[in-house]
Amino acid sequence: MSDTAILEIKGEKHEFPLIVGTENEIGIDIKTLRGATLGVTTIDPGYKNTGSCQSGITFLDGEKGILRYRGYAIEDLADKADFLEVAYLLIFGDLPSKDQLIKFHADIKTESVVDDDVKKILDAFPKSAHPMGVLSSLTSALTAFNPTSVNVDSEEDMYKSVVKILGKFPVLVAWTMRKKKGLPLNYGSNSLNYVENVLKMMFEKPNEEYVQNPILVNALDKLLILHADHEQNCSTSTVRIVGSSHAGLFASLSAGISALWGPLHGGANQAVLEMLEAIKDDGGDTKKYMGKAKDKQDPFRLMGFGHRVYKNFDPRAKIIKVAADEVLSDLGVEDPILDIAKGLEKEALQDEYFVKRKLYPNVDFYSGIIYRAMGIPTEMFTVMFALGRLPGWIAQWREMRLRKEPIGRPRQIYTGENYRAFKTIDKR
Ligand code: CMC
Repeated sequence: MSDTAILEIKGEKHEFPLIVGTENEIGIDIKTLRGATLGVTTIDPGYKNTGSCQSGITFLDGEKGILRYRGYAIEDLADKADFLEVAYLLIFGDLPSKDQLIKFHADIKTESVVDDDVKKILDAFPKSAHPMGVLSSLTSALTAFNPTSVNVDSEEDMYKSVVKILGKFPVLVAWTMRKKKGLPLNYGSNSLNYVENVLKMMFEKPNEEYVQNPILVNALDKLLILHADHEQNCSTSTVRIVGSSHAGLFASLSAGISALWGPLHGGANQAVLEMLEAIKDDGGDTKKYMGKAKDKQDPFRLMGFGHRVYKNFDPRAKIIKVAADEVLSDLGVEDPILDIAKGLEKEALQDEYFVKRKLYPNVDFYSGIIYRAMGIPTEMFTVMFALGRLPGWIAQWREMRLRKEPIGRPRQIYTGENYRAFKTIDKR
């Protein structure tokens, strides 16, 4: 097989090298395209065919439903590892030894206090503010409280900023929810593991000791692992592109949180629950909503279905579906919303429109059902996604800086007015 691609433009042939990944994915390296062709550019809205980088973090095969972090299957990680081990794996490239993990956790604990003035910022938000807006703002504000920029050439500096954000972020997540619920701001306990600490900070009441429920700890741990990275999705690309201007880690993460917020991305988990509620309130007629989803005149989409990359099944959804059943039966929750979800899933999987377009339930179809059973308010679902995605964003930001990637700056094809002579205001 030739290791170049030939592109013919207006009768002139140009040759470009092929880049082959470790899983034999092929990319055409068009770095020299504009120079060689005097300014010809490629157009690919939504970057459906464009690779923005080479990356050694996550491998995803959408046709076969494969997802691996640093070579490890998501099924094995969800079953055998905990979230902090997965975070270490994603960020530093290998599973930690026992000692490395103990040190990593100890360093994170040391950093798990935020400046008390952050409370004043939180205080200024209205209770009605969406938690994702609050989280993005507080993450950005961390830059102001930790102004020294990271020397990316120093491993120690890099490590310090990684443990700093892993320590402080769960506090911001928990406080975002506590603000919404009118609960006093609290801290976790250094005797707990990472996920137990998150649960304590989120749910502890001022007048009661918080008792851990192992079922919830296990379910949240799994959910966070499944969300931890997903290669160059919208929010991750945002983190990389913002970071490529050498903006700091916290500022890049804050931008990633904003990107995640949208209902076509992380916001889908909230949108799924709202959709299921709306169907329930409307009498539970799933067929009606299937019809709406297929009607091209109707903007309604079946939230939690379809994926840009997975065109077979979402491996995360398979794991989460089992976890959802376990959590609901362990907690003894009977939820009519779940029956509607199961009905929709069954119909969609047999429906020609969905089958033809390869639209399967994605990770967010089930995650909201578990979060709801755990007592997490719907508006907080995407915040939980952000907590899970944090290690992935950090790993991608770190990789981008270590590989000294150039500033991200796409081109365009201009389709506006040609030159126009300026008209003074009295002549318009
Ligand atoms: N309901 C109804 N029709 C759909 C849906 C849906 N959920 N998703 C895609 N389609 C149709 C779409 O109308 C189009 O039809 P046609 O070919 O006739 O024009 C076809 O399927 C292809 O859709 P697309 O919008 O071109 O696909 P995409 O790769 O650009 O979009 C997506 C992927 C996830 C944005 C989209 O499937 C969607 O909007 N899904 C609902 C939102 C959702 O659940 N998002 C969470 C994604 S998983 C979490 C994450 O990683 O962010």
